[in-house]
Amino acid sequence: MKLVGQKILVTGGGRGIGRALATQLLRQGNQVAICGRNGAQLEAVRAEHAALHTIVHDISDTGALPRLIEQAVAAMDGLSVLVNNAGIQHECDFVAGPMALLTTQLLEEMTINLAAPALLARAAIPYLAVGGPAAIVNVTSGLALAPKKDAPIYCASKAALHSFTRALRYQIEDSGADISVHDVLMPMVETDMTAGRTGNKLTADDAAKALIAGVERGKAEIAVGQVGILRWLMRLAPAVGYRILRDG
Ligand SMILES: NC(=O)c1ccc[n+]([C@@H]2O[C@H](COP(=O)([O-])OP(=O)(O)OC[C@H]3O[C@@H](n4cnc5c(N)ncnc54)[C@H](OP(=O)(O)O)[C@@H]3O)[C@@H](O)[C@H]2O)c1
Repeated sequence: MKLVGQKILVTGGGRGIGRALATQLLRQGNQVAICGRNGAQLEAVRAEHAALHTIVHDISDTGALPRLIEQAVAAMDGLSVLVNNAGIQHECDFVAGPMALLTTQLLEEMTINLAAPALLARAAIPYLAVGGPAAIVNVTSGLALAPKKDAPIYCASKAALHSFTRALRYQIEDSGADISVHDVLMPMVETDMTAGRTGNKLTADDAAKALIAGVERGKAEIAVGQVGILRWLMRLAPAVGYRILRDG
């Protein structure tokens, strides 16, 4: 689908990839709503783009997710694209870390990275299904294909979202709804999430560009940057892929 003239909700658009994406989507002539916990950050983005809709919302409050979709629908008078971009990453030590901390981190990561996108998709489908071509875009990661040892729950949450996205695509195909379902496997991108990490990082602008191009080309799985190579490696020589990603 062409990402022009659409009504798009981007979760977590206050910074990072979501902010770059919201900016590009606005420039392409879409209506865009972003959400996040940090209201001041959302307002700072709106100061640059008067047409942007902002919604202060914590997606870890799963009971309130239908309300987030309703707010986006009310702001834009409809919804044609949901981009599940918001995510968090904790580094955790499952050998020696304290149980209480690990429990909190595990539940938070699985809620924000897996439960919220899945439930937001469910809440959005009745609105997406009414107006012709629509899309659900889930941002996963190359780490969905091979984990790094320092962030085991993050990698598991992205692998789970990767799998969920495929199954959701099957269900939507069988339902006959005109909704395409996309999985965007991001490589390492220069954002707050990767601050202090070395290595080859894509800019958030280039990551957003690749997402838009992949959706517009109708690609179900969009392997961004070096994830394209990783995907081949995991087919041809998985042990090598696992070894490369292991120490992240
Ligand atoms: N950066 C990378 O290298 C990389 C690689 C692969 C995949 N990804 C994925 O790409 C997506 C964007 O990552 P990023 O690098 O742009 O991260 P980021 O710079 O850390 O930004 C994360 C965004 O998610 C929002 N968010 C987090 N928890 C939230 C909550 N409970 N409710 C609402 N919004 C929440 C944050 O807003 P508030 O803080 O205001 O809530 C922020 O806007 C994530 O799904 C991430 O897993 C990133």
